[in-house]
Parts: sequence; structure tokens; C-alpha cells
Amino acid sequence: MKSQELRLRNESCLLGGGIEKIESQHRAGKLTARERMALLLDPGSFVEIERIARHRQPEYGLDFDSIDGDGVVAGHGRISGRLVFVFAQDFTAIGGSLGEAAARKICKVLDDAVKIGAPVIGLNDSGGARIQEGVLSLSGYGEIFYRNTQASGLIPQISVIMGPCAGGAVYSPALTDFTIMVRETSYMFVTGPEVVKAVTQQEVDKEELGGAPTHEKISGQAHLVGADDRQALALTRKLLSYLPLNNAEDPPAVACSDPIDRRLEELEAKIPENPNKPYDMKEIVESILDRDSFFEIQPKHAANLIVGFGRLGGKSLGIVANQPLEFAGCLDIQASTKGARFVRFCDAFNIPILTLVDVPGFMPGLEQELGGIIRNGAKLLYAYCEATVPKVTVIVRKAYGGAYIVMNSKHIRSDRCFAFPGAEIAVMGPEGAVNIIHRRRIAAAANPEAERERLIAEYREKFATPYKVAELGFLEEVIDPAEVRSRLAESFEMLKNKRSPRPTKKHGNMPL
Ligand code: HXC
Repeated sequence: MKSQELRLRNESCLLGGGIEKIESQHRAGKLTARERMALLLDPGSFVEIERIARHRQPEYGLDFDSIDGDGVVAGHGRISGRLVFVFAQDFTAIGGSLGEAAARKICKVLDDAVKIGAPVIGLNDSGGARIQEGVLSLSGYGEIFYRNTQASGLIPQISVIMGPCAGGAVYSPALTDFTIMVRETSYMFVTGPEVVKAVTQQEVDKEELGGAPTHEKISGQAHLVGADDRQALALTRKLLSYLPLNNAEDPPAVACSDPIDRRLEELEAKIPENPNKPYDMKEIVESILDRDSFFEIQPKHAANLIVGFGRLGGKSLGIVANQPLEFAGCLDIQASTKGARFVRFCDAFNIPILTLVDVPGFMPGLEQELGGIIRNGAKLLYAYCEATVPKVTVIVRKAYGGAYIVMNSKHIRSDRCFAFPGAEIAVMGPEGAVNIIHRRRIAAAANPEAERERLIAEYREKFATPYKVAELGFLEEVIDPAEVRSRLAESFEMLKNKRSPRPTKKHGNMPL
């Protein structure tokens, strides 16, 4: 019977590289490609393509190692009812290595996703380029990289790293918008520990070189980390809930039970009057947004700048906020790069941006200057200047110097800029300013310390308030912190049909 063959073939596909390999995958604490797909997608929604695709390499032992699907499960499905395109590398089948047929399947998924306008999610678990297929596998990677780049800004692309991801293979995740790793079972590096040892004599294990702790905190390559496969996939579903399907859509709105006119009577007390005293900006962010809606991205990397998604009245927002708990909220190289990439993502996908400012300036120091704080700080400036989505700023406390301008000030086209009554907006903090402009006067005083204090108080009175800036029209209004939630909701509602056409050009030249 003809359908008997179909049934047998389909059944064999479901086993990937076979029972033994599946057991070994489970022993390593990892799920199989199909188990992952089932957790990621709405039940029963997965529709597979090229289930029986095979490679066509008859040499180097691959004639015996030909597996239906060729080491990748691909197709489309639904997440919370919304269409997504997906592929999952199957480590049980020839180590999930990527040859010509596997690459073709992934490319097909990417092409369909762009054509139809739906996100792509790649679950990566692979030994990299399939060695036996030589340049055919390299060409496969090249085709994927090209498509990732063409799709950038058209559809959201999410990479979940759920096993090895090494060599040039890391560049596909690097070209996508978000990378989510799994603790202890995933790693990413351009060259593994052996090569590192051979070339540099450095001894390093793969966890330190490219495990989740390295990428979530130091390199910033991992935007989110799950404790296991299940949690990483849950994070992927959650992330998607804030994003539109493509760049022509608005992000999805959800029903909101948190009153939009909820007053935040407790907010002002959370912000110390002493500008040198730290506080947790995350508490401010969470109070303003709809209850439990804040979803932080890269929480451990460059923690001096908070970025993440949230909702106000059920509508998605991107949030960028200085964090006074880390380096007093200074902008450094890593924070600037982190912020710039986030702002650009929000702008590409029509997600309005809320900026909360408490910044004493750019981070001073030799290390920062040698590392290129000028160029890197300019990335954040460039990203805000070019962003045309609705942009609203609240100056919570300090806003000094260049960092004041960069953090979505009126001068670089924030649509609305508010300040709390305790805000200080100036070229620099009172202490630094007085030491520069009154150096001689302090030295000549009978009591230099008393004179310094007097001058600091005078400067603070004159410059370090929001009222002077409001008089000049650089703020829309100084607002009562208790009203900030409703004022922001009203502003974003007013701005929702904002149009800001840009002059035609091929592209700008961002300071990379
Ligand atoms: C072909 C591969 C493979 C590969 C693994 N396998 N990687 N087959 N090409 N790249 C096969 C193994 O032979 C083995 O087959 C099965 O997959 C499982 O692999 P194991 O080694 O048994 O698993 P494990 O011990 O968990 O080690 C996983 C690993 C290791 C660390 C990923 O397999 C490894 O180092 N692989 C090579 C990694 C690599 O150097 N890849 C090329 C990177 S360069 P059997 O039949 O024994 O089960 C690259 C260039 C991309 O990717 C360029 C893009 C521009």
C-alpha cells in the first residue's frame, strides 16, 4: 500500500538521528529539536517543510549517514495565535551540522518569513559547517547570513542558542535582533578552547570562553538567558508578545486592567533629594508601567543603562533608563552600544520609546577614551537622532552635559520632554562647575571651603533646576511625579499617528 510507505517514512523522520542519540541528548540536559518546537509553538500549530530532505554527498562516510530532514526541522507555526517561521537544528542528526540541504531549508524559511512578513525564530544546536560537504556548507552559511541581513528591519529575528554554536556559525545569531542562551548547555565562540590554546597559549574552558555567563554579562551577546530549554523557549514567547510581526505593523496591544490614571503618590519618595545618593531606577520604571509588564533585556550587561520592553495602557513601549545604582548611571562604551542597538530595534519596528534620565555624564577615564567612548557614545546619539517613532523623555533627577543631550533631549527631537521638580539640568554638576569657573575666587577666600560651599549652593539655585530649562522651552512641562503615568499615556496616545518622513538616501553612516 502506497500510504504505508508514507507512514513509515514520516515515523522515521520523527526520530531524527535515532533513539540512542535522543537519549544522549536528554542525558546532556537538552531536548530534541521536535520537543523544543512543541514547547515553542501553540499546540498542533507546527507545519513542516522538507521533512525528508537529504544531503547529496556520497563520500567521506556520509553515504551511510544520510538522515531524513538533514539535521534541521523547519516550517511555520503560531505563537499565541500569531504566525512565526521557525527552524530547529537537530543535534541528534549528524550533530546538527549544516550542509547544503539543511541550509536550503533554513533559507526557505527566511525567504517565506520576509515574503509573508512574520518573525523568524532559529533554535541553534549544531557542530557547525558539515565538514564532509566542504564548501557547499560554507556557501550555505553565506546564503543564511545574506538573508539575515536582508531581513533585518523587515521582520524580527530571534536566535535561541541551545547547544554548541561555534566558528562562523555564530554570525547568523549575531546578525539577528535577539540572542537567547540556555545556562550550562549552550556556548558561542568564533574559535574553541583548543584553537585559543594553540594560537595564544591561553587555557580557557568553553564555559568561560562562550557560555551564558560570559555572554549575558561581559560580551552582551546574549540578550536573555534561560535556566533550561523550557525557560529559554518561554522567554522567546514572552519577547514576541511585545513585538509586531513585521515593520509595517504596530506592536500588539493587550487588555489592561491597571488604571491609566493610577497616581504614583509613592514615587517622589523613592528618588533621594541628594543627587549623589543612588536609588533603583527599575523601581521607577516598574511603578510607571502597567503592573508586571516590564521585561528587561540584557539585564546583567552594562547595568548602568536599563533597556527593555513594557506596556502603558496595554500598548508596547521600549524603555531606556539610566541606572544610578551602577557607576552612578554614567554612560560608558558598553551602555552606549547597548542603548543604541535597542533604540534602533524599537525604531525599526514601530515601538515608541520612553526615556528616563538620571545621568551625571559620560564615564571619564583613560580606559574609556582608549576604548573609543567618543565613537561608541556617538552610536547612542545617532540612534536617538535618527529614530522617528514617538519619543518621550522624563528627566527624573540629573541630566548633565553631553549625556543630557544624548538621552533623547528636546534638541535631538524628543516629541515630549518632561522633568520632575527635583531635576537638575546643567552643563555639569555644581561641584565640578564651581571648581572650574571659581577656582581663583575660592583660592583667594579667607575660608576657601566655606566659599566653595556658598558658590555650589548659588550654582545649584541658578542652574541645577528644571525651571530655567522650562522657561527656555526645552521642556514641555515640569510635572508632579504622582501624575507621570497618566501624562505619559496621554502623550503616547497623542503621538500614535506621528509621521516623520526622512529624506531619501541610501543609508546614513552610523559611527560603528
Ligand atoms: C560533520 C559533525 C560536525 C561537523 C559534529 N559532527 N560536528 N559532523 N561536521 N561540523 C558529528 C560528530 O562526528 C558526531 O557524529 C556527532 O556529530 C555528534 O558529535 P560529537 O562530537 O559526538 O558530540 P559532542 O561530544 O557533544 O561534541 C560536540 C562538538 C564537536 C563540540 C560540537 O562535535 C565538535 O567539536 N564538532 C566540530 C565543531 C567544528 O569545528 N565545526 C566546524 C566549525 S567551523 P557521530 O556519527 O559520531 O555520532 C564552521 C565554519 C562556519 O562552522 C563558517 C561559516 C562562515
